Amino acid sequence: MDAGTEKGGDILFEQFQALGQPGVYTEERCDEIRDLVAEITALKREKNAIVLAHNYQRPEIFEVADFVGDSLGLAKRGVDVTEDTIVFCGVHFMAETAKIMSPDKRVIIPDARAGCSLAESVDADALVARRDELRRTYPDLKIVSYVNTTAEVKAVTDVCCTSSNAVQVVENIDSQNILFCPDENLASYVAANTKKHIIAWNGNCYVHHQIRPEEIRRAREVNPGIKVIVHPECRADVIAEADEVASTSGMIEFAKNDAAGAFLIVTECGLSERLLLEVPDKKFYKACQLCKYMKMITLERTRDALVTGRDEVDVPRDICDNARLSIERMFELS
Ligand code: 13P
Ligand code: SF4
Repeated sequence: MDAGTEKGGDILFEQFQALGQPGVYTEERCDEIRDLVAEITALKREKNAIVLAHNYQRPEIFEVADFVGDSLGLAKRGVDVTEDTIVFCGVHFMAETAKIMSPDKRVIIPDARAGCSLAESVDADALVARRDELRRTYPDLKIVSYVNTTAEVKAVTDVCCTSSNAVQVVENIDSQNILFCPDENLASYVAANTKKHIIAWNGNCYVHHQIRPEEIRRAREVNPGIKVIVHPECRADVIAEADEVASTSGMIEFAKNDAAGAFLIVTECGLSERLLLEVPDKKFYKACQLCKYMKMITLERTRDALVTGRDEVDVPRDICDNARLSIERMFELS
């Protein structure tokens, strides 16, 4: 599966207007976007910078991104970067992952407040204490952490995973007992797809956890024949309504390749916008919530980050080295 897309090309403002957000992509705003895109493109060249962006970003961010993808695609793209600077349009743990994979590069995030409720739900000391307690009962226990974690948590993790490879990582790790952190919903999805013993941390994504199965049933009633694609950060009762469960890039691949012409997209709203732009010949309905952290990144802040070099992401070298091991083990196991 392609976990991301190399970007480049023209801005199609008619497409922005087709996103159906009255008052957002006005003619005036599209003119501003056009100017900002030109300014950022010139700054990228001047500073020898690459822009990496997550699939949930605002549509105009895709116009300056060199690569757009899910967490796995972005982690892979963060390796062997040839430019001096990586500007990361996404949330903080993703920018940290780029720094971990390319520690000698300067990594900047346009807004350092762009956090993640999952990453905030676990700290390294608490995780190690829980692991040590559980190892008295399960001596072979290993920690599998979702990449939505801080560098410190990754540094005490045996193997990382993303939404696209969590089941595979758990199946391939050499232990029967796994402390899965921090997403309880992804943990329950993995537990339903493996015979291994999964002990879940009790974090969740505030965006996906709010979505309810009734919304999906209602959408199916109103639009018979639609295919429902759900992100595995959703609750088990929502996943039970899905035709397909996939990471954000997996959702795009599925929608492109499946014979159906209409889909309900159950994840953060930005993904539906990305699909409307990427797959214009199909219909997309939304059962979605906005991630306030992802939306903190704007074109203006991206331009300012390139001008000022702020906010630079820094990870101490020892933490970086240990965290990288847990990500490299993920690449090996998936
Ligand atoms: P993906 O890896 O599927 O893009 O998910 C990242 C994320 O934060 C979803 O909320
Ligand atoms: Fe974190 Fe949820 Fe936002 Fe993804 S959508 S970045 S998991 S808070």
